[in-house]
Amino acid sequence: MISVKLTVLLYVLLPAFSQDLQEVTISTPLGGLLGLRRKLLNKNVYEFKNIPFAKAPVDNLRFEKPQPYGSWDNTLDARHFGPSCYQDLSGMESYLKNTNISEDCLFLNIYIPHHVSTESNKSVMVWIHGGGYYTGQAQLYDAAYLAVAGDVIVVTIQYRLNIFGFFATGNSKGNYGLWDQILAIQWVNDNINSYGGNSQSVTIFGESAGAFSVGLLSIMPQNQGLFQRAIMQSGTALSELSMGSITRYASSQVANNVGCSQSDPGKITQCMKYVDANVILAEQGKRFSSSLIQISFAPIIDGELLPVQPKQFLLNSSTSRFFKSLDVIIGINSGEDYIPKRILCEVLVSDLANVMYNNNTDIAISICDKYGAALTRDQLSRDILNSYSDPTFMVPAVESLRLHTGNGNGKQFQYIFSPQSTIPYPEWFDGSAHATDLNYFFFPGTLSTDEDGELSLNLLRYWTNFAKTGDVNGVDLPKWEEYDTTNEHYINLNINITTGQYMFEDRVDFWMNDIPIILNPSSSTRRPIIQTSPTNGSHKVYRHDLSISCFLLLSVVLCFFRSN
Ligand SMILES: *[C@@H]1O[C@H](CO)[C@@H](O)[C@H](O)[C@H]1NC(C)=O
Ligand SMILES: *[C@@H]1O[C@H](CO)[C@@H](O)[C@H](O)[C@H]1NC(C)=O
Ligand SMILES: *[C@@H]1O[C@H](CO)[C@@H](O)[C@H](O)[C@H]1NC(C)=O
Ligand SMILES: *[C@@H]1O[C@H](CO)[C@@H](O)[C@H](O)[C@H]1NC(C)=O
Ligand SMILES: *[C@@H]1O[C@H](CO)[C@@H](O)[C@H](O)[C@H]1NC(C)=O
Ligand SMILES: *[C@@H]1O[C@H](CO)[C@@H](O)[C@H](O)[C@H]1NC(C)=O
Repeated sequence: MISVKLTVLLYVLLPAFSQDLQEVTISTPLGGLLGLRRKLLNKNVYEFKNIPFAKAPVDNLRFEKPQPYGSWDNTLDARHFGPSCYQDLSGMESYLKNTNISEDCLFLNIYIPHHVSTESNKSVMVWIHGGGYYTGQAQLYDAAYLAVAGDVIVVTIQYRLNIFGFFATGNSKGNYGLWDQILAIQWVNDNINSYGGNSQSVTIFGESAGAFSVGLLSIMPQNQGLFQRAIMQSGTALSELSMGSITRYASSQVANNVGCSQSDPGKITQCMKYVDANVILAEQGKRFSSSLIQISFAPIIDGELLPVQPKQFLLNSSTSRFFKSLDVIIGINSGEDYIPKRILCEVLVSDLANVMYNNNTDIAISICDKYGAALTRDQLSRDILNSYSDPTFMVPAVESLRLHTGNGNGKQFQYIFSPQSTIPYPEWFDGSAHATDLNYFFFPGTLSTDEDGELSLNLLRYWTNFAKTGDVNGVDLPKWEEYDTTNEHYINLNINITTGQYMFEDRVDFWMNDIPIILNPSSSTRRPIIQTSPTNGSHKVYRHDLSISCFLLLSVVLCFFRSN
């Protein structure tokens, strides 16, 4: 049965989607929309794109919280995607298809399976794209496949990126990109019933910086009621990369460089609002840190959305209540990135030790010993890769799950996604590169075999079962046991789906137990692996090579197309 469906699926998906488009008009309390209906898997999908949820954040609204857009007068043309948020697309045009950029980018897109009826009350999934908080676009993710295969409404949202989303100096408190995400989810809550969605069954999901965002939104108690479930694909709030430790420094540098340094902090923002966007973009694109694990413009502790570091927030039983009430899926890919082995001890380890452990040399030596001991070159390469992805992706995932269990109603599920990535990875590379999972959700046309197609359908079933009920399990699917701290069950999402327990126990122990003891030999208690006092790093200009771009840009599509 599956293989018959699959042949149909691949046959349908490989050609362009453009055939069989019909225009449709609907009316909603906010106004009318002209959208499109298309056929996929022999079913209808309705698409309404470019729906404004916030006023254009320009001029006086630049570097301010987003303002709700409200209603519109004439029928909205919702047939085409709007522009991407302002960003530097040079070198990325081949995979970020929408090269229109604008500060006026706060739009969302809605994919509705089968028919549009306010009665249908379908579960809703809201996708937050990745791209290191500095690039990316909603248009890249064609959610029609997910909507129709899983019978859910999918919404893809945009949020301000890079300095436009995260500028923080003077009177600017930063986190505008997060406020945008929250306003978009609020819009979904208020309006999705007009499109047939159930505002009481909302799942937010994202990958990489999208997963960091989902992680952060999931710990903010003020988001209670906006969504019930969260899926974090390669990233959680506890990753070193989720927060911007040099954002204030980088913001003040840019303000200086564009001539907006003023003694009155209020005037810095006022000045920055009227600087040409291209000038700001060029300045903010410089590197402000030599570290590979510091993103210049990213979320910060602002005393409002984020009063303290995420870890502190989750260790506090009163503030962690909201997070624990949510159902979550948290997982990683088996090989989050490709890193040249020659740089293990000199570059990577010293970077990690510097940024995460105040340049503690004992820590640097232990990481070097732990991950540099393999006897074969291939194994060594894989270990080096892990030395970086373990503290930034794998261990934060395990920590987040552990902090999610107990005294909460929310379910939690852990996965590792591991189908072998091929081109352009070297032979030693074993596993799934960062962002490979996206192909199985959004780009099924890129999958080469029927086995991959079958895995894709299974993933969609797990994800949409979860979105509907909070439980991933369903008929015809291998059982996925819930995670708990005693048994630590996880599922290995590969061509042959298998299950396991205690994922990478030895490596998790190293980061969560051994390292804290090195940091503080007299203490036998566990300490947070991420320190709460970030450093600015040093400010050398780092050569921007491909592996780093891939690491931060967080898109396999990029790595894939660039190397061709
Ligand atoms: C870019 O925007 C213009 C004007 O809105 C539109 O005509 C054009 O089709 C857009 N291009 C793409 C690639 O979306
Ligand atoms: C949709 O389902 C929710 C429960 O999830 C229920 O409270 C709500 O009334 C339903 N809405 C409609 C229009 O059926
Ligand atoms: C971080 O940057 C601020 C200025 O933005 C500076 O005052 C402070 O000394 C820096 N800290 C470190 C550890 O470099
Ligand atoms: C936990 O959070 C609450 C609410 O913000 C705060 O009042 C309390 O002081 C925190 N407790 C600790 C131990 O930080
Ligand atoms: C970290 O330690 C190394 C070795 O002692 C030193 O060369 C380097 O300058 C230090 N880096 C920082 C940022 O303190
Ligand atoms: C999946 O399992 C089948 C049957 O055991 C085996 O022949 C095949 O090699 C496995 N495939 C992968 C990718 O592990």
